[in-house]
Amino acid sequence: MRLILLGAPGAGKGTQAKALAKELSLPHISTGDILRKNVADSTELGKKAKNYMNKGELVPDAIVIGMLLDRLAEADTDKGFILDGFPRNLNQAKALDTMLTERNKQIDLVINLEVSEPVVITRLSGRLICSKCQAIYHKKNNPPQNDMVCDKCGGALYQRDDDKEETVRKRLEVYREEAQPLLDFYNDRGILLNVSADEEAGVVLDEIIRMLTSYNDSRKN
Ligand code: AP5
Repeated sequence: MRLILLGAPGAGKGTQAKALAKELSLPHISTGDILRKNVADSTELGKKAKNYMNKGELVPDAIVIGMLLDRLAEADTDKGFILDGFPRNLNQAKALDTMLTERNKQIDLVINLEVSEPVVITRLSGRLICSKCQAIYHKKNNPPQNDMVCDKCGGALYQRDDDKEETVRKRLEVYREEAQPLLDFYNDRGILLNVSADEEAGVVLDEIIRMLTSYNDSRKN
């Protein structure tokens, strides 16, 4: 199954993608994670991306599209994948489409996590990320057992540079500008599913799994 998770910053794309990846045994591909790894490793790509990310702007398509298509060429994506953070605009969606069509494949479903703005601000201001395994925590909603240490791998937790309030506002502004054409693009194909993502993470996951099950059942009939 080839899935895309869409939604505003803080909607819970990473949280849900990680859980779904485990549930469906599919690779979770996050362009944000790949870019942050490149920034941390000071690669050429990371050096180019860093300023855009710190300002809350999109990294140019010329950098991101090639990076994502390279990742999708890896063998573990043959049976499917879960995309988180890509596509971000119509141009990226069309590039993905072209690449998949060339391989006689297509996106099966696009899950749009709908979240209200005050919820986003609360979530991002409390988010903690593991520097080693990228596990996602929240100071209040999902705290680690030991302060600033990852429960899963013992790595140090950190707050993302772009989770400062002013940068979050810029990221939301960028999201609002780009999201609607993208939603229309997938809605017109009849593969867009909207999920309310204000509820707690387990409830949102149950709802997504319910939708995926009913999609799979409808394909069998
Ligand atoms: P990216 O890393 O993709 O960030 P984003 O889209 O802004 O989304 P976030 O990762 O902030 O949020 P999320 O929806 O994954 O929420 P999460 O699950 O972590 O991109 C970062 C930057 O990279 C971009 O600004 C851009 O510069 C660049 N970039 C990336 N992709 C690009 C592309 N394709 N093109 C160009 N540039 C690109 O959850 C957030 C917090 O809330 C956590 O603390 C979590 O524990 C908590 N939480 C989650 N769900 C719930 C829930 N249901 N209830 C309570 N708490 C919850």
